Amino acid sequence: MAGTDVTDTPPVVVLLGPPGAGKGTQARRLEERHGLVQLSTGDLLRAAVAQGTPAGLAARTVMEAGGLVSDEIVLAILKDRLAEPDTRAGVILDGFPRTAAQAEALDALLAEAGQAVDAAIALEVEDAAMVARVSGRFTCAGCGEGYHDAFKRPAAEGVCDVCSGDRFKRRADDTAETVRARLSAYHAETAPLIAFYDARGQLARVDAMGAIDDVTEALGALVAQARAA
Ligand code: AP5
Repeated sequence: MAGTDVTDTPPVVVLLGPPGAGKGTQARRLEERHGLVQLSTGDLLRAAVAQGTPAGLAARTVMEAGGLVSDEIVLAILKDRLAEPDTRAGVILDGFPRTAAQAEALDALLAEAGQAVDAAIALEVEDAAMVARVSGRFTCAGCGEGYHDAFKRPAAEGVCDVCSGDRFKRRADDTAETVRARLSAYHAETAPLIAFYDARGQLARVDAMGAIDDVTEALGALVAQARAA
């Protein structure tokens, strides 16, 4: 793939940030440009909900209320996904870990495969802007490309820039009320992981209030460093 870095060490990069910080947007770009596989626990859970699996049925109400799904369910889903061979190219974890227990379980899972977290990147944003970002979001129903009513519209109205699809969808948990609940869960359970990775010397911070392309550039440089380490 053009523009993809190829080195010996497949990195494991954790992307931290509140709802709307741009984790999904940026993880997709890192996948396209740097060959990492995006592992989004939110996407995996939404797929389980859509398929009506037992895990999906248990997760659905929690997600609609903006809470955190149980560590047990999330870890089982992530473990299955990490076992798929494509993840050996290196992964960018989008929305995981979200609790101290998940961070510890991730270390243990990676250790079983002789791997470890190489870098954790905190996307720094202002809470006040996040409700607008999340409630204006929509994605292509065909390929999943993300858009926003104000910040990132398709170049041709109603047509996806990537796959030319003409159907778009919005998430059930993107109401202003639910976004506030998700922000509270983030500050209570997930933000402390910033200190956890910082204490291990693995944390980098990126100002994610700027333009999407500028954030991508900053993240790309950090991923290249993680590969070279
Ligand atoms: P999840 O799907 O992970 O959602 P989230 O963390 O709330 O994050 P979002 O997807 O809302 O935001 P994002 O940071 O990806 O931003 P995006 O790139 O889309 O989780 C959903 C639910 O699943 C959770 O609430 C929980 O219930 C459950 N869950 C998931 N993982 C779990 C776990 N590990 N443990 C327990 N429960 C779990 O960007 C948002 C919008 O802003 C887009 O429209 C985008 O175009 C725009 N945008 C992005 N960057 C910029 C920028 N720089 N400038 C302007 N606009 C921008």
